[in-house]
Amino acid sequence: MLSANLTMPSDTLPYADDGAQSAIQHVALGSGAVVLRGYARRCAVDLLSMITSISSLSPFRHMVVPGGWKMSVGLTNCGKVGWITDRTGYRYDSLDPATRRPWPKMPPLFADLATGAAKAAGFTDFCPDACLINRYAPGARLSLHQDRDERNFEHPIVSVSLGLPAIFLWGGKKRADEARRLPLHHGDVVVWGGPDRLNFHGVDAVARGEHPLTGSFRFNLTFRQAR
Ligand code: SIN
Ligand code: FE2
Repeated sequence: MLSANLTMPSDTLPYADDGAQSAIQHVALGSGAVVLRGYARRCAVDLLSMITSISSLSPFRHMVVPGGWKMSVGLTNCGKVGWITDRTGYRYDSLDPATRRPWPKMPPLFADLATGAAKAAGFTDFCPDACLINRYAPGARLSLHQDRDERNFEHPIVSVSLGLPAIFLWGGKKRADEARRLPLHHGDVVVWGGPDRLNFHGVDAVARGEHPLTGSFRFNLTFRQAR
């Protein structure tokens, strides 16, 4: 049985919905938010090789925020639309401003993983059209923010951690609310929606380290139904 599985093309492996995934530890952050510990670990090697292919078409870059600062996090996107920022604001665009071409297609594995994780967290029929790919070198961080550039806040956010660990900052409805500090490891998936959809969140400066699959980087995939 095992050898038969090993000869299957990796994109046909039943990553998200077999029995092993039901043993995944759920850590509740709120009534609409949960960490699924290690949920993406089994498909991480494939996710990372797809990130490499995507970034060969639409490279990681450090975008400028409306205030004029350059983000310490490098980003790219795949999917029908991608999240971008420049001096004029934050938005989704179907074109990569660096290449003036459509963003790379979202691999079916990405979409299936996000749909499966959302379902495991209690959100059915999540169908992402956007995947923001963040790359954190040591020292890169993301200050507290809300994800609010999407058209419909009824859809959850699915966020996948790969490579080096990080401290996720899980805040409240207001920026000033105290944020919980939550270590996230390779393969962890955070899902938030419903009453927690607009909670502030961020990532503390990533510490120096070496991960067997990603070297000195942390990657994060953020899936959204943006339009
Ligand atoms: C984000 O909020 O866009 C990314 C969160 C993370 O990197 O874990
Ligand atoms: Fe975010």
